[in-house]
Parts: sequence; C-alpha cells; structure tokens
Amino acid sequence: MLFNKPLTDIIKQRFSCRTYLRKPFDSDTFARLTDFIASDQDGPLGNRTRFELVSATEADAKALRGLGTYGFIKGATGFIVGALCENESALEDYGYLMELIILKAADLGLGSCWLGGTFTKSRFAKKIALNADEIIPAVTSVGYAAQNPRWVDGKIRAAAGSDRRLPWDKLFFDGGFDTPLSKDVADVYAMPLEMVRLGPSASNRQPWRIVKDGDDLHFYLRRTRGYRTNNYAKMLKMDDLQRIDMGIAMCHFELTLQGLGIDGRWVVNDPGIATPNELTEYSVSWVE
Ligand SMILES: Cc1cc2nc3c(=O)[nH]c(=O)nc-3n(C[C@H](O)[C@H](O)[C@H](O)COP(=O)(O)O)c2cc1C
Repeated sequence: MLFNKPLTDIIKQRFSCRTYLRKPFDSDTFARLTDFIASDQDGPLGNRTRFELVSATEADAKALRGLGTYGFIKGATGFIVGALCENESALEDYGYLMELIILKAADLGLGSCWLGGTFTKSRFAKKIALNADEIIPAVTSVGYAAQNPRWVDGKIRAAAGSDRRLPWDKLFFDGGFDTPLSKDVADVYAMPLEMVRLGPSASNRQPWRIVKDGDDLHFYLRRTRGYRTNNYAKMLKMDDLQRIDMGIAMCHFELTLQGLGIDGRWVVNDPGIATPNELTEYSVSWVE
C-alpha cells in the first residue's frame, strides 16, 4: 500500500507549510521517505525524473529569497529537488511525481511547500549534480511543521488567497464548457474531482478545468492572464508552473480513482471541444 492513512484525509490535511521546527528527520522517517523517492521516477506521460532529498543549510534560505520565490521558508530540514530533461509533457510529469512525494511526506507526518521558480542555475543544481540537458522546474521544502506558524505565513496565505478554492461550477463541466457538472452527474468521479479542487497550485490560481464526456475526462489548462507577458512572471517561468499544477491535478485524480478501484489511463488526444477563450488550452484526457 502506498499510504498508511486514507488518501482523501492526506489531501484534505496537507497545506503549504512555511515554518518548520529546527529538527532533523528521525531515522525511520528519513529511510521511508528516501526509499519512496527512489521508487518514484516514471511519470504517467513517459518522462523520467530523478529526485533527491537534500539537507537544508542557512544559505539555501537566502538563495531562495534571491530567486524571488514568494514565500519565506524558515527552518526546513530538507528540500526535495528533482531534475529531468525538458520535453513535451515533462512539466506535467514533474508535477505529478513531486506531488506524490509530497503526499507521502504528509502521510509520514511531515509538512512541505512547493517552491516555484527556475532553479536550474541555483545551488540546488549543484546539490543534485545537474546535467547540461536537465532542468529543475521547482523544489519542495520539507520538515516538521511548527506548531505556531509565523505572522508572515498568514500574510503569504492571505496574499495568495490560499484558503479559497474555486467552486465546482467554475472548474468542472458536463459535455462542454457551457454546462457545469453536478456532483450527481459526476457520480464515481465526484470524489476524485473534489480532490483535484483541493490541490495546491502556484499562487493558488487553480488553473485546471475538466470536461466530463461519458467516462472520458478531458483536462484543460486555464492560463492566468499576465503570467506569460509580465516580466516578473517570465523570470520565474510562471507560465510553466501552471503545467506543473496540471500534473498535481492528475496525481490527485488518478490516486483517488485508484482508491475506488477504477482503472483508466492518460492519453493526449484533443477531443476538439470548443474552449471558452484563448487562455484555455487542452492538456490531457483520462480514458477508461
Ligand atoms: C507549482 C507551485 C509553485 C509554488 N511556489 C510557491 C513559492 O514559490 N512560494 C510559496 O510560498 N508558495 C508556493 N506555492 C504554494 C501555493 O501558494 C499554495 O499551494 C496555494 O496558495 C494553496 O495553498 P495550500 O497549499 O496551503 O493549500 C507553490 C505551489 C505550487 C503548486
């Protein structure tokens, strides 16, 4: 079994943890997490990623600030760093595989926070001995969550609107983008979709839109206006972060469905459904 606790509880309890206790991993937790990381390499869309758990130093926190990641991470015990070759669907696979590790870390009682940006030329690149053809699209801090988060954590959560999730009728659709999908019609897919809705996303933009068409579910990326054109966003490659968000949604969706005993697979095959605007683009489909 992948997790000790029910997956839906893990997803509901996870949050972006930005303040940690200054404490090393206990040896059992460390061993279980590193074993899990070593086994988590092949993404659902065919890209291979290598992940490593590296220990954190004071200088890492400073380097993160320099890179403009919007959260201030304090006291993390380690970072999960992954490297992969830039390729079609590589970022979706990266999101999927990293999120799997984050859920495992939560299952083991650890807090974590996704940190977006481009880390390819950073000190993380050295830690993972990055090859010339590889990139590090994001990293994750990990450690034991502090009981009393700092004042600044609340400010970051408020700025990113972290506690707000879009309602169903803005995210999920029936047959096409004109008809919102009700939970009744979603049927067995209701819980997996709810788990997508609760997932983390860069700046909490929640860019996933899903159209149910019979037993096929088509995933679309609703890009945030400005992420592509604004210079700050370009520097942080925000554009790409939304493809990572899509991978996170795929991970929550597939794992929850698996838990319900329902099989299927991912394919990239645009069904040609009319999209509501130029910011919405097809990503991937789940088919039975
Ligand atoms: C791809 C990605 C990149 C993120 N980058 C950052 C970051 O650089 N700094 C930060 O403080 N939080 C970052 N976050 C966390 C989001 O702000 C957070 O997931 C969102 O606000 C929802 O809050 P929650 O995770 O507590 O549910 C990132 C999340 C994702 C998925």
